[in-house]
Amino acid sequence: MPDKKTPAEGLDSLLEENRTFDPPPGFVEGAVASDPTIYETAKADPVSFWEGFANELEWAERWDKPVEGEGPDMRWFVGGKINACVNCVDRHAAGERAHKTALIWEGEPGEEVRWTYAELAKQVNKFGSALRTLGLGKGDRVAIYMPMVPEAVVAMLACARIGAIHSVVFGGFSSESLRDRIEDAGAKALITSDGGWRRGKEVPLKRFSDEALADTPTIEHVIVVKRGEFACAMQDGRDHWYHELMEAAENPCSPEMMDSNDPLFILYTSGTTGKPKGIVHSTGGYLTGAYATTRWVFDLKDDDVFWCTADIGWITGHSYIVYGPLAAGATIVIYEGAPDWPQRDRFWKMCERLGVTVFYTAPTAIRAFMKWGDEWPDGCDLSKLRLLGTVGEPINPEAWTWYHRHIGGERCPIVDTWWQTETGQILITPLPGLISTKPGSATKAFPGVDATILDEAGTEVPVGGGYLAIRGGWPARTLGIWGDEQRFIDTYWSKWDRNTYFPGDGAKRDEDGFFWILGRVDDVINVSGHRIGTMEVESALVDHEAVAEAAVIGVPHEIKGTGIVAFASLRDGFEPSDDLAAAIRAHVGEKIGAIARPESVLFAADLPKTRSGKIMRRLLRDIAEGRALGDTTTLADPAVVETLQKKYEAEAGD
Ligand code: PRX
Repeated sequence: MPDKKTPAEGLDSLLEENRTFDPPPGFVEGAVASDPTIYETAKADPVSFWEGFANELEWAERWDKPVEGEGPDMRWFVGGKINACVNCVDRHAAGERAHKTALIWEGEPGEEVRWTYAELAKQVNKFGSALRTLGLGKGDRVAIYMPMVPEAVVAMLACARIGAIHSVVFGGFSSESLRDRIEDAGAKALITSDGGWRRGKEVPLKRFSDEALADTPTIEHVIVVKRGEFACAMQDGRDHWYHELMEAAENPCSPEMMDSNDPLFILYTSGTTGKPKGIVHSTGGYLTGAYATTRWVFDLKDDDVFWCTADIGWITGHSYIVYGPLAAGATIVIYEGAPDWPQRDRFWKMCERLGVTVFYTAPTAIRAFMKWGDEWPDGCDLSKLRLLGTVGEPINPEAWTWYHRHIGGERCPIVDTWWQTETGQILITPLPGLISTKPGSATKAFPGVDATILDEAGTEVPVGGGYLAIRGGWPARTLGIWGDEQRFIDTYWSKWDRNTYFPGDGAKRDEDGFFWILGRVDDVINVSGHRIGTMEVESALVDHEAVAEAAVIGVPHEIKGTGIVAFASLRDGFEPSDDLAAAIRAHVGEKIGAIARPESVLFAADLPKTRSGKIMRRLLRDIAEGRALGDTTTLADPAVVETLQKKYEAEAGD
């Protein structure tokens, strides 16, 4: 088992958690997945199992081979031709769902927009035509840097329609992060907005975009959605207002039929180096995996109202706001702003007002709700809810139990879903009509998925802890890292054999074969369910003029699951002070985005290093958590760590 500290601090308390919750009887009868033999059937022939879901989608040409190749080279539905936008929009708009609500949007100030599938079809056709008129087409990369507005969904689907590869960059990232992602993908266009609302304040996305664009020669066009009356500069020839393009745009826009393994999108995620990885997803396999898991895990019926609270800048937003639910013809809810605006019951008021039936959020949000107090949800009518989900990080049993009681009214099953940007779809999860849940456990692999626990040598651990591993394949798995095949192989396919995927998580399996995810075992910190690479934060820290050297670690945090603590040694001429610590924290926020800002910066004369110069983060974690120091014999200078420990204890005692 890795020696790294994981975000699932409460492993012991997790494993002491032995209550089980059976699916409620009424739920089982009507569940989309209700036949327990599907686990065996899928195991015996996973390829046919996945083909069953692919058959429910609309293909322009059927595939020749359901699967080809192994490990990093595995490809699904080879030879098939498909368009993701046609599957998410046209086939519903042309059929019985034409007048069904596809999307309900609430802006933070309170506006509401509802679009039927027919209306959504009009929007994506027109915007697809507009993009084509600008000369964009198959294979071009288009960056999307938007608030949570309906046009963000239109932008993604319109790219898919014309075969352009979208790269959505989370609206909370800084201009520098945007610039790096535009550069890496070689994006030709950027779709953004004048601004957006967050906790009553304007987020000036166009201004941030302009800062990024000062340095991105590949960008030919910028399309700006007018979200509000936000001041923004427009550059002649390069910048276009979305609404003006839409007025002139033609409807229909013929969809580009894509090869099943043509990229649908790139999404950047942090890794163990300073450079984020562009995770590339396919069209046919990705859509099949997102669709299948949406149907089965969220048990979606035609009258459901599905709210996944993620931002479209993360994979959860891609798979479970846009592609999965819309491929399934669902009604989705999108909300622009903060959960505590104008009050701490915004989410619950929205559930009540919009009749939300299936609700999917992150443990970090649940812990914040718990802290805000029971009265907020208890004062709202949540009786329409019938199923709850969580994603992004381990959920502590206390938060699970609170969610079950105060949001789910003790009647809604909870699906704790484990997956990643790279996997594209949920891989470990209960099926809500079939699996009894245990608070804190993601339970079992989805049918057709071969998940296990291996030790360092690759030996299976039937019961106990080790590394999570996935063997074989599943349709939504990534095609690779944009422009870096070797990094793809080294990161995910080289720990054991070439056909076993290494997700970078530690996990345990209990006597019932249930999985308990413990968190990252690499140099990645999971903050509020989002991956932040320690190297990225460290490079942002040393970028500050005062910092000579820096190391960051993850420490348990009441709301965020894990918070970032930075240790920094200063250049000559700089003195430690609270103001300097604040300035350094702010600098990281500006370089990467607020999410990466350390909770605190601790100044050290020196950082503990091995004789080969490697910073020993394990010791820093021991210090930050007040534990007895682990093995210090490999330190170049053991005195460094003792001094640091004394200093830290003195500061903690202040
Ligand atoms: O450590 C795991 C954690 O989030 C990581 C994936 O992060 P990302 O690619 O940003 O995608 C997040 C949303 C899918 C994983 O390696 N993680 C995700 N879901 C869970 C989880 N940890 C525990 N339980 C989960 N349900």
